[in-house]
Amino acid sequence: MSANIAELEQRRAAAQMGGGQKRIDAQHAKGRLTARERLSILLDEGSFEELDAYVEHNCVDFGMADQKIPGDGVVTGSGTINGRLVYVYSQDFTVFGGSLSEAHAKKICKVMDNAMKVGAPVIGLNDSGGARIQEGVASLGGYAEVFQRNVLASGVVPQISLIMGPCAGGAVYSPAMTDFIFMVKDSSYMFVTGPDVVKTVTNEVVSQEELGGAISHTTKSGVADNAFENDIEALLACRDFFDFLPENNRSGVPERPTSDPWDRQEPSLDTIIPPSANQPYDMHEVIRKTLDEGDFLEVQPGHAGNIIIGFGRMEGRSVGIVANQPMVLAGCLDINSSRKAARFVRFCDAFEIPILTFVDVPGFLPGTAQEYGGIIKHGAKLLFAYAEATVPKITIITRKAYGGAYDVMASKHLRGDLNYAWPTAEIAVMGAKGAVEIIFRGLSAEEQAVKTKEYEDRFANPFVAASKGFIDEVIYPHSTRRRIALGLRKLRNKALENPWKKHDNIPL
Ligand code: HXC
Repeated sequence: MSANIAELEQRRAAAQMGGGQKRIDAQHAKGRLTARERLSILLDEGSFEELDAYVEHNCVDFGMADQKIPGDGVVTGSGTINGRLVYVYSQDFTVFGGSLSEAHAKKICKVMDNAMKVGAPVIGLNDSGGARIQEGVASLGGYAEVFQRNVLASGVVPQISLIMGPCAGGAVYSPAMTDFIFMVKDSSYMFVTGPDVVKTVTNEVVSQEELGGAISHTTKSGVADNAFENDIEALLACRDFFDFLPENNRSGVPERPTSDPWDRQEPSLDTIIPPSANQPYDMHEVIRKTLDEGDFLEVQPGHAGNIIIGFGRMEGRSVGIVANQPMVLAGCLDINSSRKAARFVRFCDAFEIPILTFVDVPGFLPGTAQEYGGIIKHGAKLLFAYAEATVPKITIITRKAYGGAYDVMASKHLRGDLNYAWPTAEIAVMGAKGAVEIIFRGLSAEEQAVKTKEYEDRFANPFVAASKGFIDEVIYPHSTRRRIALGLRKLRNKALENPWKKHDNIPL
C-alpha cells in the first residue's frame, strides 16, 4: 500500500473515533448511540457518504489550539432512506460535548445548502451542549447561519429534527423552525434556560426531564411531535415517517404499490355513529378504515387529542389527515388543537400533500381560559391555513358540524373541493337545545322540548346544507374510501393559485 493511501486510512480511522473510546463508552453508558451509529440505523445500509470528515475548528483561546478532533463534533453528509436521497447531520457528543463551533456550523450549513440545491430533505440528529463556550460570538454567528438556512428551506424541502441528547439555550431554535421534532424519552431535553436558571429567576425547582423532556414537550407544550423509548426506536420511526414525505415542494408525493383495493367497502362504518349525539366514538377507527392497509402515522398523538393529525396513503400516495376526535373534549376546537392542526395543514399545503378532513365538531371550547389565551387569534390560524391551502381538499362530515367550526373545518366556502356528509351529519349554527334556549327564551320546559324537536328535525341532518350545494353529496359511510379515492384521482391535476403577494400575514 502506498504511503498516501496509508495516511488516508489512518486519518479516516481517527475521524471514526470521534472523541475517543472513553467518551464513546460514556455515551453508551447513558443508553445513547454515537453520532455514526445513529446514522447507520437511519440510512440505508452502505448509503452514507460523508463530507468534511477532516474539518477542524480554528479556535486558539483557552488551550483549544492543541485540542483538535477531525470532524469537530458533527458528522455530515448524505445517504438514502428506502432509496430516496436525504441530507443529514449528526452531532457527536463525544467531541467537545457536540458543542457548536464556527467550523461545526459551517458543516451543517454545507449540507443544508447542498440539500436546497438538489431539492432533498434534511434530517438533523441533535445532541449538543450548545454554543462552543471557548469560541464565544463565533459560535453564536454559526447558529444564526443555520437559523437563516432553516427559514429559507422552510416550505422548500422537508426538515426533520431528532433530539437525542441535550438541546439548550438558543440551540433549540433551529429544531423549532424545522417541520417535525422527534424526541427520545429520558434521554433528550430542550429548553431555553435550564433548571438552574429557572431556580434562580423564578424559584421553581424542576428537573431537566420535567422542564424539557420528551413527555413534557409531546404532551404539555406541543413543541415536539412524537416521543420514542430509545435511539433505535426513534431512528426507525423516522425512516417510516420519511417515506410519507415528498422530496421537496415540487416533486409531488411519493407513491408506492398497495394491494388494498381502492373501492374496498367498510360496512362497519355504517353503524359507527352512536344513537345519542352525546356519545363519543373513536375517530381513529374511521381514519384507519379509510386509508390504505389501515396504515396511519399519527403526529402529536399526546397533545391536543381533540384533534387528530397525521399521514396515510390512498392508492399508494401520501395524504394528510385532520380529524376532530369526539372522545376528547367532545372534539371541540380550542387553542391547542387549532395551532396543532393549522401548522399541519400548512405543511401539507407547502408540500402538495392532499388533505382529508373528517369533521365531528360541536364548536369552539367556551370559557375565560380560552378567550384570555387568545382563542380568537389561534382559531383563526386554522381558518387561515385551510382557506389559503390550494392542495386537493376532501372533507367528510360524519356527525356534528356546528357554528364557526363548521366553516373552519375545510368547508365548501374555504374552497373545499369535495365536501361529503354521512347521513348522520348535523350541520347547523349550534346544537338544538342551545339554539332553542336562545331563540325561544321564556318558554316553559315542555314548550322548549317541542321547539327543540322541531329544530332537530329541521337542522340535525345534512340535507339543508346539501340543498344549498354546501355538501356535494350525502354518501354511505361504507363507501367513504371509494369516494375519497375517486376524488383524489380527479383532483390529481388540480391547479389553483392564490393572488401574488410577498407573503401573507397569518394571525401568529
Ligand atoms: C464546549 C462543552 C460544552 C460547550 C459540554 N462541553 N458543553 N464544551 N462548549 N457548550 C464539553 C465538556 O466540557 C465535556 O468535555 C464534554 O463536553 C461532556 O460534557 P459533560 O459536562 O461532561 O457532560 P454531561 O455531564 O452529560 O453534561 C452535558 C451538559 C453540560 C448538560 C450539556 O455539558 C452542560 O451544561 N454544558 C454547557 C451547556 C451550556 O451552557 N451551553 C451554552 C448554552 S448557550 P470533556 O473534555 O470533559 O469530555 C447557547 C447559546 C446558543 O447555546 C445561542 C444560539 C442563538
